[in-house]
Amino acid sequence: MAEDDIVIESRDGRVAILTLNRPKALNALNAAVMGEIVRRTAALDRDPQVGAILITGSDKAFAAGADIKEMEDRSAMAMMLADWLSEWEALERVRTPMVAAVAGFALGGGCELAMMCDVIVAADTAKFGQPEIKLGVIPGMGGSQRLTRAVGKYKAMDMILTGRMIDAAEAERIGLVSRLVPAERLMEEALDVARTIADFSKPATLAAKEATNRAFEVGLREGLLHERRIFHALFAGGDQKEGMAAFREKRKPVFRHG
Ligand code: HXC
Repeated sequence: MAEDDIVIESRDGRVAILTLNRPKALNALNAAVMGEIVRRTAALDRDPQVGAILITGSDKAFAAGADIKEMEDRSAMAMMLADWLSEWEALERVRTPMVAAVAGFALGGGCELAMMCDVIVAADTAKFGQPEIKLGVIPGMGGSQRLTRAVGKYKAMDMILTGRMIDAAEAERIGLVSRLVPAERLMEEALDVARTIADFSKPATLAAKEATNRAFEVGLREGLLHERRIFHALFAGGDQKEGMAAFREKRKPVFRHG
């Protein structure tokens, strides 16, 4: 790990932390940063010692969007042939819970990256927006879909059609933020969330994430059946027995994550 890495990786027990590090460009997501995020999250997802992934930026910016200067001269044909941005779908396949710790700007692709995480902890300095319309384009990394599912049609349309930035308080009010904290407590709170998740039984947290995400993809009946089947399956692992025995014996459970 070097301080000039565009994505800095560190560990806190079972929590892996990815810090975006392109301060001069407000963490704009160029191909190199996107590639690193995809590559590192996929690797961390395979690591049994990792129970949660925390993604963060700087005090000034979580990420100010896709790199406008890099994308400006791209041709439609080149993007279509390369299916540009489709690599982001790899983040959807990350089964390990992901927590975003957002301070400052989370715009365009930055807001979309936060929304690909499972829990969003925001500092009171955070500003969210989908300003692509001002550039003559639209969100391209899931904004029109994930934001609408998160906050409903009318708030999503307001943000996407006007490009208006919303502050952290409004983001929390409309359901785009899980927890809102004073800026100086951001990392402490986000780490607390990530540590809490990482210390629970890993099969249970993977199952919880998978089942909850189903709510956005399938009808209620299918979703309920899926949930029930995964619930049944968890009784095959040792952690269920340990968790329930610990409750009965009035002690803290010791999960073996299997
Ligand atoms: C490239 C960016 C950038 C971006 C900021 N910078 N955002 N470079 N791509 N998205 C660069 C600036 O050019 C500048 O570099 C430096 O970061 C500091 O930014 P300033 O504008 O000087 O800072 P400030 O005045 O504080 O304004 C902050 C800001 C503004 C409000 C966040 O930078 C801004 O509006 N950025 C663009 C936000 C945006 O439109 N995002 C959506 C992108 S499209 P120099 O070298 O001049 O100092 C997108 C689509 C995603 O995300 C999916 C499909 C592609």
